Amino acid sequence: MIVRRSIGLFFVLLLSAGCGSDKPQGSNSSAGNDGSAGKGGGASASGGAPGSAGESELGGNHSVGGSPASAGVEQTGSELTYYGDVAPILEEHCLQCHQDGGIAPFRLDDYATAKAKAGAIAAETAGRTMPPWSVTSDGSCGEFSGSLALSDEQIDTFSKWAKGGAKQGTPRALSKPALPSLGTGTLFKSPQFTPIIQGGPLTEADEYRCFELDSGVDAQKFITGYEVTPGNPEIIHHVLAFLVDPSAKTELSGEPNLTNAQLMARLDAESPDRDGWPCFGMAGDGVGVNAVPVVWAPGQGPVEFPVKSGVPLTPSDKIVIQIHYNLHDMSLVGQSDQTSIKLRLADEVERVGLFVLNDPFLNTLGDDTPAQLAPGKASVKYNWSQKLADFGLAEVPDVQLNGIMPHMHQLGRKYQLQVSTASGNTCAADVQNWDFHWQRMYFYDKPRTLDATTVFKVTCDFDTTSVTEPVLPGWGTSNEMCLATLYLTVPVQTVQSL
Ligand code: HEC
Repeated sequence: MIVRRSIGLFFVLLLSAGCGSDKPQGSNSSAGNDGSAGKGGGASASGGAPGSAGESELGGNHSVGGSPASAGVEQTGSELTYYGDVAPILEEHCLQCHQDGGIAPFRLDDYATAKAKAGAIAAETAGRTMPPWSVTSDGSCGEFSGSLALSDEQIDTFSKWAKGGAKQGTPRALSKPALPSLGTGTLFKSPQFTPIIQGGPLTEADEYRCFELDSGVDAQKFITGYEVTPGNPEIIHHVLAFLVDPSAKTELSGEPNLTNAQLMARLDAESPDRDGWPCFGMAGDGVGVNAVPVVWAPGQGPVEFPVKSGVPLTPSDKIVIQIHYNLHDMSLVGQSDQTSIKLRLADEVERVGLFVLNDPFLNTLGDDTPAQLAPGKASVKYNWSQKLADFGLAEVPDVQLNGIMPHMHQLGRKYQLQVSTASGNTCAADVQNWDFHWQRMYFYDKPRTLDATTVFKVTCDFDTTSVTEPVLPGWGTSNEMCLATLYLTVPVQTVQSL
């Protein structure tokens, strides 16, 4: 049986040192609320591969290509078929989305459609925009579970098949993976809400809003997975959920007796005609957060925490949902959203999970001169490093790093996480082709055990050629971030004995 007070202390320690919002008092509310109208000028990135090979290239091309001197048809791929060569790759890497009921807009489990898309398939896979899997997974930088990444050979197969006329082969039944689903869980919903652009340099076309919900449980549980379904995906930039102890004191030093419940009620009352309250980094200015069990950005499917781990949820907890609404496209102004979060709950776990959100770049907003990215450059790097000790975890035995979610905004290009421990420095995540539209948690097949000397080093690489003014860190979609969301776990006994 877990002693609640210890967990609380543990998380507070962790979060007060480690969160992206950990800025000097008051900077949360001072930024982004100065009322100037948003310009709504964000670049909307298109997900298409450069130079997508036109599908027309293939239309009716049944000739056997290749030079006459070629040793064999294999050179040209003319022998490669859908059922024989391509479908085995689709079954493993594509059909979870590209089937009836899947999230992709067309099926690939059907020869005719796949043939019609052969050129696009070759181009998207060669450009590594499909399947959506951002982290390098060739073993050079971390080994990830459920990797969708293709080998060079598989990419080559798509390309040769397309060039060779996208032949059919001998029809057979394909084995389709089940559609990704969390299974049963408890549903939490944000209210139907119409965001309003807050304006100002840091939230030019955005609104951040927090909503308070009851835990819905009558005994201690652990959150072992989640699934977020935005009601209106076009206006949702990200969704976070925080666990807040309503009877704990807030982080506002000026009011030592104020509880989180009182503070949240006060924040909520400031805009009686609208649900919730404004909140940037975390759950609102001064509200103490115990844990961050849900981190969601576009492209993230259902999440199941690894190594039989979970985040503790206590009956008295309040679940605060933070939604970042993004109205860059002015035609979306006036639209509303109701987002659902499904939580999978268990009675017991082997390890306790902690999400640590860390962005020292964003934190410089609290400095006299915040960090800036120089405009007009193909590569502007921001580096930061943070010790495990900074999270209050250096003394805790058997802390594992089990997952990472890189996060930048539209100007992000590359991203790397290095982790150094007493046994050396290792590459823990590498993104070569950042795609803002596909973000997710990446969990390790082989978790890393951390020690007291552990240091996390992150390098974000931005392309600022599209902008003429220096870029500030910030919460708006046209500002930038260099955020690492780390999923750490500790044995459940460790937490009990703390
Ligand atoms: C996680 C879900 C998912 C997986 C896995 C996935 N796709 Fe996609 N794919 C999508 C979605 C959604 C789109 C729609 C465009 C977008 O949102 O980027 C798409 C778009 C595409 C397109 C662009 C079509 C066009 O003409 O614009 C191609 C081609 C494609 N996928 C091929 C593949 C192939 C080949 C694989 C496997 C090697 C694959 N996809 C795996 C979800 C997925």
